[in-house]
Amino acid sequence: MSIITLGIESSCDETACAVIEDGRIVRSSIIASQADLHSQYGGVVPELASRMHVEAIVPCIREAMKQASIEYSDIDAVCVTKGPGLVGALLVGVSAAKALCEVKKIPLVGVNHMAGHIAANYLTDVSWEPPFLCLVVSGGHSEILLVKDYADMEYICATRDDAAGEAFDKIARVIGLGYPGGPKLDKASQTGDPTAFSFPAPKISDSLDFSFSGIKTAALNTINQVRLKGEDVDVNDFAASYQDAICSILTDRLWKAVKKTKMKKICLAGGVSANSCLRAKITEMARKNHLELCLPKMAYCTDNAAMIASAGYYDYVAGIRDGLDMNAYPSLEM
Ligand code: KG4
Ligand code: ZN
Repeated sequence: MSIITLGIESSCDETACAVIEDGRIVRSSIIASQADLHSQYGGVVPELASRMHVEAIVPCIREAMKQASIEYSDIDAVCVTKGPGLVGALLVGVSAAKALCEVKKIPLVGVNHMAGHIAANYLTDVSWEPPFLCLVVSGGHSEILLVKDYADMEYICATRDDAAGEAFDKIARVIGLGYPGGPKLDKASQTGDPTAFSFPAPKISDSLDFSFSGIKTAALNTINQVRLKGEDVDVNDFAASYQDAICSILTDRLWKAVKKTKMKKICLAGGVSANSCLRAKITEMARKNHLELCLPKMAYCTDNAAMIASAGYYDYVAGIRDGLDMNAYPSLEM
């Protein structure tokens, strides 16, 4: 008998629900994006995000169940993102999941959003299993984890300041690309020259840690200098150069982590793993060094509930359950 997990995700600006079979097979994955709403404000407005989740959550759950052709009685566990994320947004998903579990007497599993991102790889390659190294890069996170087992992970390094996604979003806004910055910067880069501008590589002694604040400041200074001369920055060239610099740092750190841990299996996770330049650089690095690589399917790179239902499945089969007193944890660590 297969195990069915229903995933619910509402940590930021996507309301999502998905039905997954045995942690790996996507029976349905529904995402209601709020990007259009927030783009007029240049970023996510937490209060509005919560309100939109309240509107979208029940239709999302209904649609995911309908597309997967399942009844409530078919669900073995409801897996919901309990953190990290925006507290008001998280609470909508957590409350909906708890109501469902209480009324239908279904076990509840609270899932760490970042563990969910890593699980995107399990949905991409059904034979992908720990141990492996994972470069996790999203709007709020940049870290490399050694995933020893489904629920046993060790930090190899993390960011000392900004996350990679944040560094993309900030500069995209400054050069007028708007929100969401990462994907727009990626698109603009396609026709830009990555050698047009150069940026300093961060110097953090021998540490593997990331730091993006220096490169962000250098980018802002370059833009200001060009504008002071009464000129305009070539948006495509600037985007391509900046993206190339950040992706080079990420690739270099992952390679150093490979050497440090001697792990020959690598993968990516998080919204920034959708970046075309990063995917190309990591693919080349893996090819040159004969590493086994998994790149998450584009649909599972950015926030979705399929990844939450997959990560939750592994907790569920390990016997992990949460009580109906479970809260939302905005700063939840791995
Ligand atoms: O994982 P995610 O959807 O949400 C968080 O958990 O943060 O990641 C969102 C981040 C944003 O910073 C967004 O700009 C970035 O991922 N992102 C990208 C791309 N697609 C999404 N960054 C660079 N290139 C992309 N193609
Ligand atoms: Zn995310």
